[in-house]
Amino acid sequence: MSKTNRHVTPKDGCAWVTGASTGIGRAVALRLTQEGWSVAATARDAEGLMTLQQEAEKFQGEIIPFEGDIADRAHMNQVVQDIESTLGSIALAILNAGIYLPVETANLDLDKFERSVDVNLKGTAYCLAPVIERMHKRGKGHISLVSSVTGYGGLPTSAAYGATKAALINMAECMEIELAPHGIRTTIINPGFVDTPAQESLDFPKPFMVSANTAANQIVKGLNKDKFEIAFPKRFTCVLKFINNFLPKDIYLNLIRKQTGRNKFKPMD
Ligand SMILES: NC(=O)c1ccc[n+]([C@@H]2O[C@H](COP(=O)([O-])OP(=O)(O)OC[C@H]3O[C@@H](n4cnc5c(N)ncnc54)[C@H](OP(=O)(O)O)[C@@H]3O)[C@@H](O)[C@H]2O)c1
Repeated sequence: MSKTNRHVTPKDGCAWVTGASTGIGRAVALRLTQEGWSVAATARDAEGLMTLQQEAEKFQGEIIPFEGDIADRAHMNQVVQDIESTLGSIALAILNAGIYLPVETANLDLDKFERSVDVNLKGTAYCLAPVIERMHKRGKGHISLVSSVTGYGGLPTSAAYGATKAALINMAECMEIELAPHGIRTTIINPGFVDTPAQESLDFPKPFMVSANTAANQIVKGLNKDKFEIAFPKRFTCVLKFINNFLPKDIYLNLIRKQTGRNKFKPMD
């Protein structure tokens, strides 16, 4: 499988970006138009998508809103059908929509847990299934899942979010193994901290945080390379990979506990 036959371009069809109303998805959608892609943009916020469409028009870029909740399985089928009727084949799908709901395992909030799984994991699968079906028939396509470095290993408050992101990394690996022989390329995107609305309410240190535009540049650059993983910023992701992959797990867990102040006894509220 050479780079040439697995590489998609705007000549192959349109790009679909989920979670495009704000943050990383919005910046990626705009960046893709600069690369010549027509972009189908999905999120629940119709107004946010309209503003995005207008912003793209200023630069002669084409972004068409396809409003929807990715956790709605039937609707995602319909959205994929509508995109292909309007813009042609989806050649590139960037499944980025996701939510971060912090949970404490001492008092596990099952509503937040279920919502995280419904959106981040099941919602992504609901977008994937109709896209894979079509790409499989055409024997060509590129699917990129937005996970997170949180998916590398356990971190405080991430028992729900991190579990869904680890699952996405695993799912993408399965896809790349199974779908590559059918001409479908899979990539996984693992960002560190990115300055987006999702980060605003979170009150903890965010080392090496990058802007959404920097994230979008890294993502689009990565899509054009022939690598499975797009992880950034490099200094942060390399440290995380090292402590996750090369330290014995007990040392990793002690280190994270100390670094995040979880080594002190705290009575439950
Ligand atoms: N920011 C970071 O530091 C960071 C780091 C690593 C990974 N990530 C991942 O990057 C992705 C984007 O995050 P972000 O930081 O850009 O967050 P964000 O600004 O909050 O954007 C999230 C996007 O997902 C959409 N979304 C949420 N739930 C949805 C649903 N049920 N159906 C359809 N769309 C939905 C939101 O739109 P609506 O609300 O309009 O639906 C929004 O467009 C997420 O998967 C996140 O986990 C972020």
